[in-house]
Amino acid sequence: MDKICIIDMGSQYTHLIARRIREHGVYSEILPNDISIDELKQHKPRGIVLSGGPSSVYEENSPQLREEFLNYTINEKIPVLGICYGFHLIIHQLGGKIKPFTHKEYGKTKLDILQSKRLLDSLEKEEIVWMSHGDQVEIMPEGFEILAKTSTCPIAAYANDNLSLYGVQFHPEVIHTEKGTTILENFVEKIVHAKKEWKLENWIEKTIEMIKIEVGPSDRVILGLSGGVDSSVVAVLLQKTIGNRLHSIFVNNGLLRKNEEIEVQETFQQVLKFENFHYVDAEDLFLERLKNIEDPEEKRRIIGHSFIEVFENKTIELEKAHPDIKYLAQGTIYPDRVETSATSNVSAKIKSHHNLTLPDDMKLKIIEPLKDLYKDEVRKIGLQLGLPENIIKRHPFPGPGLAVRIIGPIEKDKLSILRNADEILIEEINKAGVYDSLWQAFCVFLPLKTVGIMGDFRTYEYICSIRVVESLDVMTANFAKLDWDLLEKIGTRIINEVKGINRVVYDISNKPPSTIEYE
Ligand code: XMP
Repeated sequence: MDKICIIDMGSQYTHLIARRIREHGVYSEILPNDISIDELKQHKPRGIVLSGGPSSVYEENSPQLREEFLNYTINEKIPVLGICYGFHLIIHQLGGKIKPFTHKEYGKTKLDILQSKRLLDSLEKEEIVWMSHGDQVEIMPEGFEILAKTSTCPIAAYANDNLSLYGVQFHPEVIHTEKGTTILENFVEKIVHAKKEWKLENWIEKTIEMIKIEVGPSDRVILGLSGGVDSSVVAVLLQKTIGNRLHSIFVNNGLLRKNEEIEVQETFQQVLKFENFHYVDAEDLFLERLKNIEDPEEKRRIIGHSFIEVFENKTIELEKAHPDIKYLAQGTIYPDRVETSATSNVSAKIKSHHNLTLPDDMKLKIIEPLKDLYKDEVRKIGLQLGLPENIIKRHPFPGPGLAVRIIGPIEKDKLSILRNADEILIEEINKAGVYDSLWQAFCVFLPLKTVGIMGDFRTYEYICSIRVVESLDVMTANFAKLDWDLLEKIGTRIINEVKGINRVVYDISNKPPSTIEYE
């Protein structure tokens, strides 16, 4: 299959480039900037994109390409597109000059197109693009043509057809660049001539074939099923492939949302007819271990370790009855893999703590059927596999569950208050028809008591904070500007219906600097 390789220079947008290219039907993967030429050859790239990055090319220790990198792409006629930092790097490595620019250009900018052909084919004379840079290309080596400029950036896009090198100072992968999709499409289709072979319809058939080849006819597979999108999709895919040789373990850690343990059991046992669905009620164990624990990191540690212990014990029990259990399936998706192993020394390990690692001594071989997919691709596959929409569209929910949404020690009555408040919030958000447009919406329990008045009585109860955010890529998020009437209804209902809460506040913090969750 034709592939575009994205070389990661540390930009927060690297994944977006890969996703946009896949959306055009061309397979793309992210590789580290220090990749050797031999390794790169094994990927057989049809085209290469150098991402942006926070450094300056002339700084010490800034990410560079191997010296032979551009020689290789030029000799092999593999087209290269440099974006922002990548745009500078091509020029820098070929002996041109990059200089710091006194006016940093950031945000939406008008681009004047000088040549609307090749990379900028079918663009108007003026377009809006998203800029974010402090450096500029000052002198280009011979053979490079200027394709576009802005009022402060005389070289904002270039092309060198002989060497198959192209570049843009702005970010075509970001939605604020209005014709960004067209630019990436021009590169992929008109310059690289890559075949559109990345189709999710074929993915299911091919993956089922691959699993059948790997997992022997009597082998059994174990899976930790949380009811979230990723593990649910893996579950259904495996059930389709190996039927009841799949053993799904669902652990109730006592930190789930209201009725979640019942809903997950119903979906998998009754709707999807899973035969070997194993429900483990470990609520008491988790809550006992979490007693009086205040520190968020300590809570996470206890929950992570307890989960592994419970899961391992259940697996050992099942192995006694079924010695053919040979595999452990996991719902790892592409961003988890790239972020935990960090594609290169420059990309930060932001989400690594979110994923649990099971002990090596479990001696089970791992299968991760979703390991090359992005979340939106997993959702599409899930729908094609017939998973109910409520699972596919459900907002992300953290592994440590409500423990990170109760500040301070976890207690049963606080969990119950939080579950009741959260249920009202979600119900109202659904009724207002805005659930699907939000990244997450949830309540947080603040263990602070304030005074209120209900009827003729003074009350002294806890505070509930409402956190509702919009986000495209989780790295950044904005609080949602919900309708005031909707917020009022939610607040009033929570105070009236949830015993233990007499004050509701709306969280208006963005990420960064705040995080989405509270702990
Ligand atoms: P933050 O709070 O870091 O969250 O802005 C980013 C996203 O990650 C989710 N999250 C977690 N998911 N285990 C998980 O599986 C965790 O420990 C965890 N902490 C945060 C959070 O819900 C949001 O979608």
